Amino acid sequence: MAQDNNFLLPLFLLLLLGHPTTTQGEYQQPHQEISAVDLAALHEIKSSLADIPGTDFFSSWDFTSPDPCSSFSGVACSPTPPPRITSLTLGTGLSDSPGLAGSLSPSLSNLTELTQLVLFPGIVTGPIPPQLGNLKKLRVISLTNNLLAGPIPTSLSTLPEIHTLDLSHNQLTGSVPPGLSGLPMLKVLILASNRLSGELPRNVPTQLLHLDLKNNRLSGWLPKLPLSLRYFSASGNQMWGPLNGLESLTELVYLDLSMNHFSGTIPTSLFRPSLSSMLLQRNNLSGGIPQPHLVVGSTSSYGQGSIVDLSHNFLSGELSNALAGVEALYLNNNRLMGKVPWEYVESVYRGSTKTLYLQHNYISDFPLEAGMALPDSVSLCLSYNCMVPPVGVGLSACPPSAGDNPNTCSNQLMVRSNDHLRSLRMKLSDLTNIELLLRVVETTKPPAVPRGVQLKNIFKALGLVCTSYVTCIPRGALT
Ligand SMILES: *[C@@H]1O[C@H](CO)[C@@H](O)[C@H](O)[C@H]1NC(C)=O
Ligand SMILES: *[C@@H]1O[C@H](CO)[C@@H](O)[C@H](O)[C@H]1NC(C)=O
Repeated sequence: MAQDNNFLLPLFLLLLLGHPTTTQGEYQQPHQEISAVDLAALHEIKSSLADIPGTDFFSSWDFTSPDPCSSFSGVACSPTPPPRITSLTLGTGLSDSPGLAGSLSPSLSNLTELTQLVLFPGIVTGPIPPQLGNLKKLRVISLTNNLLAGPIPTSLSTLPEIHTLDLSHNQLTGSVPPGLSGLPMLKVLILASNRLSGELPRNVPTQLLHLDLKNNRLSGWLPKLPLSLRYFSASGNQMWGPLNGLESLTELVYLDLSMNHFSGTIPTSLFRPSLSSMLLQRNNLSGGIPQPHLVVGSTSSYGQGSIVDLSHNFLSGELSNALAGVEALYLNNNRLMGKVPWEYVESVYRGSTKTLYLQHNYISDFPLEAGMALPDSVSLCLSYNCMVPPVGVGLSACPPSAGDNPNTCSNQLMVRSNDHLRSLRMKLSDLTNIELLLRVVETTKPPAVPRGVQLKNIFKALGLVCTSYVTCIPRGALT
């Protein structure tokens, strides 16, 4: 879905930062000898890393050349004599280049003027040298998409200037060092796709803009988060507890807490168009979708690219129109009931809403007007609700594995009772006297169901108290 966005902000910040520190251009002839300590460190760094065949990075690192500052790829120096290395970028970063192998040399810690250290994707293994904590001028560390292992060095919590720390897509273990909370300049922290575990530190740095912890093994409650936060993902962890702490994060534009065990209600303040990506699917969330008049600052509307995914939770009550106009809206597999407000239908017809998934709820009416044609680009799924889906809508557009258990459809029928709490699973063999129903569900040939028969009326006739059913009607069965 919106996953591609994840890389944009950090990359942007990196570029912004990278610009002033790339001082190669400012370095004027006649050149000075590079600092001997830095030169020795470059020797060590090169001896612990190598180009993977297909990568051409180290060929320019010729130690007989008079001026590493201008001839070595990835190296940029300060203009003042003796030149010191201020920026080191290891690897070409070209998408067709497999990158570097080896490990990171502790002698990096002798590059004490370094402000930026970047390692491009490759298969570099071993630990992140704890000695990096000596590099007090570092503003950017980006060591992503390699095979770095071991803990995040606690020494990184002592870097006073660090602005961006991106260690994502490695094999780092252990917990998030509590000391990171004390970093005064940290704006971007990306630890996604590692093997980090344990609970998060109670506080997170107060001016952080971007925090990405997704796909780790983190547990526990959400910590106290900074009010400045604009991007927050902790998707794909084992975190639990309420979402109350998010209420005051008014700057958030991207929130992804999907695939955790969060519970309780979704704070009302999160239903606002400025939070244009809200991904809370596959949690244990309950409560309703608030009425828009309760939502502060909801005068603007959701725009292009907006996505809200609240699917696979326990949301109940009637759908308010707070989410009308979201471009991709996933509310499937909840306990929503009643009539879908007209605003949603209208937004689908206008083409503002391109995806609307409402399957697997207790919805009783989607007020389609006869004769109105849906735009081709729309994906609308209404099946598995308390209504016969409007003809031509819902069944064909549903994803093949819309339900919790798609196999359920072939041989059993699920009836959810009126109070939405108890559910009753019946094998079709238990329903042999319900011939008509059986044929509707079972057959792939259109059965002899008179046009206009509502399945809920069939249930009613059979004495079942039922406001909803899960249908498995073959396409065209009711037409
Ligand atoms: C840092 O430089 C000093 C002086 O050149 C050297 O003795 C020391 O071994 C270097 N440290 C590392 C970790 O390489
Ligand atoms: C999910 O919520 C239910 C109550 O709605 C509770 O019994 C269950 O323990 C919760 N599960 C988790 C993992 O929080």
